[in-house]
Amino acid sequence: MLLLADLPGINGFLPGSRATIMLDVVFVAMFAVVPVMGWGIWLVRARRNYALHKKVQLTLGIVLLLAVTAFEIDMQLISGWRERAELSPHYGDGTAAHWVMRSLFIHLFFAIPTAFLWVFVIVQALRKIPNPPRPSAYSRPHIFWARLAAIEMTMTAVTGWVFYCLAFVA
Ligand code: HEM
Repeated sequence: MLLLADLPGINGFLPGSRATIMLDVVFVAMFAVVPVMGWGIWLVRARRNYALHKKVQLTLGIVLLLAVTAFEIDMQLISGWRERAELSPHYGDGTAAHWVMRSLFIHLFFAIPTAFLWVFVIVQALRKIPNPPRPSAYSRPHIFWARLAAIEMTMTAVTGWVFYCLAFVA
């Protein structure tokens, strides 16, 4: 019988889960990121509060960049995740014929473009939207790419939660 204590990395805090603390933090944090992002967008649409929208989105972008960097270092170099996912009935032989890997690929299909899209949206907004921020010639492209970035972020969160449950809870 393999004990959680024998697995690499620090055990997380969510009951009923075999995930590491870093996975738990990200799993929970995404429940805050999606509503905060929604609030940031509502500030523009309903309140025309462009300055606060800019602050909220920039803060989210910086926090996410730091979190993703720490998360990737932990997953790839320090704690890993496979030993913990191997205990799931959906892991199989660790190939995409089984739902752990399948759901990870679906998650990465959203997560990787999301990271690039957020950098692109923020850099372009900072370069092309006037300061203090207000509607401008760059409004239409910003609205197009930023809506896509928001949809992709939401899908990244949803697919991440599904992967987490299949790999570490099941
Ligand atoms: C990844 C980060 C960001 C996301 C996801 C985002 C999201 C959005 C969305 C979805 C809208 C359109 C709302 C609608 O549907 O009408 C919008 C509008 C706007 N955003 Fe952002 N935004 C981001 C970063 C920024 C930054 C950094 C600035 C300022 C430099 C900015 C300034 C504006 C302005 C001025 C508008 C209003 C455009 C108009 O209606 O003419 N945004 N944003």
